[in-house]
Amino acid sequence: MTSPVRLALLGCGTVGSDVVRLLHEQSADLAARIGAPLEIAGIAVRRVGRDRGDLPVDPALFTTDPLGLVKRDDVDIVVEVVGGIEPARGWLVEALRAGKSVVTANKALLAEDGATLHDAAAEGGADLYYEASVAGAIPLLRPLRESLHGDRINRVTGIVNGTTNFILSAMDATGAGFAEALEEATELGYAEADPTADVEGFDAAAKAAILASLAFHTRVTAADVHREGITEVTAADVASAKAMGCTIKLLCIAARGADAAGHETVSVRVHPAMIPLTHPLAGVGDAFNAVFVEAEAAGQLMFYGRGAGGAPTASAVLGDVVAVARNRLAGVHAASESAYADLLVRPMGEALTRYHISLDVTDRPGVLEAVAGVFARHEVSIATVRQGPAGGGPAGRGEDAELVIVTHVAPDAALAATVRELRGLAIVRSVTSVLRVEGGA
Ligand code: NDP
Ligand code: HSE
Repeated sequence: MTSPVRLALLGCGTVGSDVVRLLHEQSADLAARIGAPLEIAGIAVRRVGRDRGDLPVDPALFTTDPLGLVKRDDVDIVVEVVGGIEPARGWLVEALRAGKSVVTANKALLAEDGATLHDAAAEGGADLYYEASVAGAIPLLRPLRESLHGDRINRVTGIVNGTTNFILSAMDATGAGFAEALEEATELGYAEADPTADVEGFDAAAKAAILASLAFHTRVTAADVHREGITEVTAADVASAKAMGCTIKLLCIAARGADAAGHETVSVRVHPAMIPLTHPLAGVGDAFNAVFVEAEAAGQLMFYGRGAGGAPTASAVLGDVVAVARNRLAGVHAASESAYADLLVRPMGEALTRYHISLDVTDRPGVLEAVAGVFARHEVSIATVRQGPAGGGPAGRGEDAELVIVTHVAPDAALAATVRELRGLAIVRSVTSVLRVEGGA
C-alpha cells in the first residue's frame, strides 16, 4: 500500500478525542477508502499532562507547540479542533500556504475571517474543508458547495444551535420560563457553563454567515448577520405562539432578494421566530439541528440530525479528512472558494418579515382605530387582529383588553418603528410580546 497520509491534530478535547478514537477504530476501513493509511504525526494541546482517559494513542505524540507541529515536513494534513480566532488563524494560514490541506470545525474563525483562509488555500494549492463547522454531523456544506452547484438557492432557513433548540423545546413542552429551561439544559450538559455564545445567537450567527457564503456565492461574515438571541423569549410568548398553532425557534435565515434598483441582494439574520406547527422545522425538537433549503430547480430540501457532540462532529471531520486525503493522493485539490456573485448584504431594516404583536390596551371605543392608525402610518398592513381580556382573564368588558395583531410582510424597519410608536401611546399599557413570524403562519 502507498505510504501513510500524516495528520497533525490540533486540539484533543470533546471533538478531537473522538477524532482520535474513530481514527483508531476505523483505521482499516479508512485506509481502504483512501488508498493509504492515515497516521497521526502529532497532537497539539494546551496541557500535555491532562488525564485523557483510555484514549487509544501514544502519549509521546502530544505537544504544546501547534505551530511547530504544523510546520513539520512529515505532516500532510492539518486537522484543527481547537476553536477561536487566534492563534488558530496563524496555524491554518501557515499550513495552507505551505500546501498542507486543512480540515477544521472552527465556525468562529471561518465566519470572522474565512477570506484569509480561502486566500491562503488558493495560494498554497491546498484544500480547506469545514463540514463540521455548521450543524455537526449533518452533511450540509458539501451538498451546498457541490451537489447544489448546478442550481440556484433562494433561501436557507435553519435551526443550527442545539442548545437553544433544547431550551425553546423545553419551554414549549412544559411552559417553563427561559431561566428555568436554561438551568435544565445546563444540568443535562447541553448548555456550557458560560452559555452566552449559544443563547445570545453568536454561534448561530457564525453558522449563518458560513451557510450564506456557500449558498449565495458571496463572502458573508458574522458582522453582516443581524443577530438576536433567545434570552428575551418569555413563557407568555411561547403561549401566544401555541394559541396561533405555532412554536418558537431560533432561526438562521439567509434569503435572496433585490434592492430598489432591482439589483440582487442577500439578507442574513438570526433571531427567534414563530413558525407554524405544519412547517418542517417545527418538529425539530430536543438539541437537534435541521436546515431547510429552497432551490430553484431542486425545490425544498431538508437536512436533519445531530448538530453537536464529540462523535457526531468527529464524523463530519473524518469525512473531510477522507476527502482531502484522497485529493492529496490524486494530486488534486477541490475547487476554490466560490464568491463570484458578490451580492450586496442588506441591512436588517430592509429584510422583509412579519410580526406578531401582543398589546395590553385600555378597553374603550376608538382604541382599535388608534392602534390601526399607527400601523397605517408606517405602511404596515395588518393581517389579523384578535381581542381578548387582558392577561387571559375571563371574557367580558373590563378596564383593559389584550390585542394580538399579526402583520403582512413589511420591511423590518417599518415594523420596528410601528412597535416603537405603539409603546409611546397612552392607550397602550404595555407591549407584552413582539415576535417575527416566518414560514407562512
Ligand atoms: P474543547 O474545549 O473540548 O477542546 C479544545 C482543545 O484544544 C483541547 O484539547 C485543548 O487542549 C486544545 N487547546 C486549546 N487552546 C490551545 C492552544 N492554545 N494550543 C494548543 N491546544 C489548545 O473544544 P471542542 O472539542 O468542543 O471544540 C473544538 C472545535 O470544534 C471548536 O472550534 C468548536 O466550535 C467546534 N465544534 C464543536 C462542537 C461540539 O459539539 N463540541 C460541535 C461543532 C463544532 P487541552 O485538552 O489540553 O485542554
Ligand atoms: N454550541 C453549539 C450548539 C454546538 O449548541 O449547537 C457547536 O456548534
